[in-house]
Amino acid sequence: MQRRSSKQAGRFKTFAMQSEVDLNLGCPQEVARDEHFGAYYLLGQKDWPIVENIVSCMAQSFMVPVSTKIRLCQPSTKTVEFAERLQASGSSWITLHARTVSSRRRRQGAADLSEVKKLKESERLTIPVVSNGNVRVFDDLAKNLDYTGADGLMVGETLLGNPCLFSNDALPDPVDISLEYLDICRLYPGVATLKTIQTHIRHFIDFQCTRRPWFKKLRVALNACTDLDDIEHLLRVKVPRWRDMTMKSAEEGSEDERDGIDLEDSGVLWHLPPN
Ligand SMILES: Cc1cc2nc3c(=O)[nH]c(=O)nc-3n(C[C@H](O)[C@H](O)[C@H](O)COP(=O)(O)O)c2cc1C
Repeated sequence: MQRRSSKQAGRFKTFAMQSEVDLNLGCPQEVARDEHFGAYYLLGQKDWPIVENIVSCMAQSFMVPVSTKIRLCQPSTKTVEFAERLQASGSSWITLHARTVSSRRRRQGAADLSEVKKLKESERLTIPVVSNGNVRVFDDLAKNLDYTGADGLMVGETLLGNPCLFSNDALPDPVDISLEYLDICRLYPGVATLKTIQTHIRHFIDFQCTRRPWFKKLRVALNACTDLDDIEHLLRVKVPRWRDMTMKSAEEGSEDERDGIDLEDSGVLWHLPPN
């Protein structure tokens, strides 16, 4: 009997804890361009056979389903064909982030959800399609599914700011949600680094309070925190104090100073196309 190396054992352990493996064909970052991976495999068609080979090898070797996440091909009419080829290679479902690799910044426009719809309308594509892009508020979830006919949704940036998006509750107070997140981090120590925790809390607060006069102070103070107790102190003591001061100055002067929930502050202005 052959003994497994520790590296192999690690690999099996990893898969024992996973329910699927998704191949990221959507990454638009410079490192992906320089090293030629992610969404850069989609450009032109010359690399498509490589991708098909990768998906096919993964699908045959892994005990869990393999899925793929793609962006729009160029021209976008090629996206359906590419998706069909991924299906034939063994992809169990496909997530389409309906932007091209060149429109990687959000200000370069909304995702084109009509392209997700086209995948769903393809008679040859029978695997589930997950729609990704443009979900900003709870109502967008249903609108997106209704419009595209997709089988599921993936949400990225909005969840960074509002992790309660799916619950359809009122936007949570960003300090409350940050404190709740801190509790979870304490419950699972070592899962997120201090830097990651700081980044998440900055996102929660940025989403609603980016234009507040105290937000810059918060960023600086948050970066200076050296542990979770520091962050908790900042959230429980300093931020309420800054908010109080802002409210007082609002009562005395401009309404713009008033703290509270302001979706426009998030700077995210995506909308679904009309049905
Ligand atoms: C912090 C962050 C990291 C991301 N990392 C990846 C990634 O590794 N691979 C990928 O395909 N997309 C990645 N994305 C893109 C998202 O998965 C998603 O496709 C994109 O944000 C559009 O969806 P949204 O409109 O809901 O944000 C990332 C997005 C964010 C905000």
